[in-house]
This record gives sequence, structure tokens and C-alpha cells, in this order.
Amino acid sequence: MLEKLNEIEKESLASLAAIEDESALETWRVANIGRSSPVMSVFSQMGSLSKEERPLVGQRANQVKVALEKAFAEKQEAVKQAALARSLATEKLDVTLPGRPVRRGRLHPATQNLRRILDILAEMGFQVYTARDVESDEYNFQLLNIPPHHPAREMQDTFYIDTGETDESRKQVLRTHTSPGQIRAMREFSAANPHNPPPIRIALPGMVYRFEQITARSEVQFNQVEGLVVGENITFGDLKGTLSDFVRRMFGQNAKTRFRASYFPFTEPSAEMDVECFVCGGKGCGICKNSGWLEILGCGMVHPDVLQNGGYDPKRYTGFAFGMGPERQLLLRHKITDIRYFWGNDMRFLEQF
Ligand code: DAH
Repeated sequence: MLEKLNEIEKESLASLAAIEDESALETWRVANIGRSSPVMSVFSQMGSLSKEERPLVGQRANQVKVALEKAFAEKQEAVKQAALARSLATEKLDVTLPGRPVRRGRLHPATQNLRRILDILAEMGFQVYTARDVESDEYNFQLLNIPPHHPAREMQDTFYIDTGETDESRKQVLRTHTSPGQIRAMREFSAANPHNPPPIRIALPGMVYRFEQITARSEVQFNQVEGLVVGENITFGDLKGTLSDFVRRMFGQNAKTRFRASYFPFTEPSAEMDVECFVCGGKGCGICKNSGWLEILGCGMVHPDVLQNGGYDPKRYTGFAFGMGPERQLLLRHKITDIRYFWGNDMRFLEQF
């Protein structure tokens, strides 16, 4: 029996040594240390041995069993390490490779510039007031001193919404400018305190719409930022000071401005403000049409009728207003020759901002 155990040990260890992969190892385990393996069957034959033989064989069988189990555990570890080494060699991962770039989103250039304007106005004490995109004819025109058939309507070809409305005032339009927000704001503030309406300093941003042929120079929609300041003793000097300061904050401390007399039905007097051409520095170029100046906004003292329409007594209150186009500023600043780029969604254009 002892002889047989030596034999078993020798053969098992020899076959184990030849093994290289996990499935062969498992087969070996079942055959050599499993429940019906030769060593284990020695234990079940103990009963047929003599009293003297029994302890010797038992001890030896145990030794062999333990030795085989130990050899198996070592082999198992070796096979695992070999498999790992193989996969490390074949599935090499180069941790020095640069990562794939993550494409970052960004704000549309028109939104960027709109926000910049609002940030600067906020520094100057202007609060944002948002008014509606769909307006009545009354708010978009009449309350701003533009009655039906007024020639100023021709400057702003209008999208009318077909609501079946025949009453001129109640016809619905897409606002052609942000100016109707002036009336909305004044009416809201004065309604809250009719005898003593509060002073106003607001910026009204948003999209406006014009029924135009889309060309390189005109679009059917664009943004405007309107400003409105109302209070006691507000003068044209306040208008000039505020807008000159705005331009310096927007275009740099050395930006020069000039005011030209103009006409808008809702302001009196009215003006347009020019800034010295930031492309040629005033020398004259294609962008400023050799004048050295770029027109960037319309402005004026709020017309007494408009104050009245807003619920502000024009005998007590005065105010100034202005309106500008964020996209127009970008066109000029970056020498963009075609306004259609703004809503064309061409990534090559948008990624430059
Ligand atoms: N609403 C005018 C337009 O769209 C711009 C404008 C001019 C606004 C003068 C004003 C202003 O508030 O005072 O052409």
C-alpha cells in the first residue's frame, strides 16, 4: 500500500508539471485529488488493512494528499500568472496616448454679444425687463406715436398674424422693434402706483421681426436691446453721458462718439449715435463707407405722448430711450459681410466665436 502511495504521488506530480492551462488543471484536480481519485480511495480501503498497517498507511496517505493539494495550489497560481502575463503582452494599453478631445458647446455669437451688452448695462444700473414677441398693432405702433398709415410704418415692414381681427388696434403682429416694451413696462409700474409712479432704468432685450426679403444685408429676425430711463429731471445731458459711457465700456476707453439729429416718432428730440470706426480707427474704409464713423444706435428723449400712454405724467417726468442691434455690432466689428451667417447654423462660422 505504501508502495502504491509513492507511485500515486510520483505520477500525479509528473502529470501536474506538464499542465499549462486552466481547463487541463481542472481535469487534473478531479482526477488526482477529487473524491474518487486514487489517494482518496486509499482512505476508503483502510478498513481492510491490519491494525499495524493502518496508522502507517493513513499517515502516508495524508502526506500525499497534502502534498498534492499544495502542488495544485502552486500550479494554479502559476497558470493564473502566466495567463495574466500573456494578456498584458497582447492587449497592450498605451497610457501615454492623448485622449480623444471632448467638443465643448458654446453660446451663439449673437447671444454672447447680447449678454455682454446686458452685463454692461447692468453695471450701469439697468435691470432687464422682458416683454412679449407677439404684440398688438396698438402697442407696436399706435402707443408709440405711429398711427395707421404713418410713413414710419414703411421703415418696418410687418408680419401680421391672421387672427381674423378687423379692429386695427387689436391686430396681432410680430414685434418689429423692442420699443413696445417701453409701454408695457411703464404701464405695469404706473398701475402699481398711479399717483407716484417709480423712476425707471431698464434694458429690454429680445428678438424682433421684419417682413423683408432675406439678403446679405437684411434678415427677417434679429435681436435688439432697448433702454429706457424715466424720472424727474432726466435731461438730454443724461442721455449723452450714459450712452457715451456705455460705448466706452463696450468698445474701449478711447472710443469716440458723436450724436447726429434724427427722427423717430416716439422720441423728441431724436438722435443717432455713431462710434468712430473700429476697423480703420476713423481714417475711412469700406466698412464705414469712408466716413470714419459707424452708426450703432438710435435714441432720444421719450416723447410726451409716449410717457402719457405709459401712465407717466409728462409735466412731471422726462426720460430717454435708445435701441441697438447686437448682431449689427458684431457685423461691423468682425467685418462680417453677410448677415445670413447668423441664423445659417454653419459650424465653421459659429466656431470662430
Ligand atoms: N425702435 C427703433 C428701431 O427699431 C430703434 C430706436 C430708436 C429705439 C430710438 C429707441 C429710440 O428707443 O429712442 O429702429
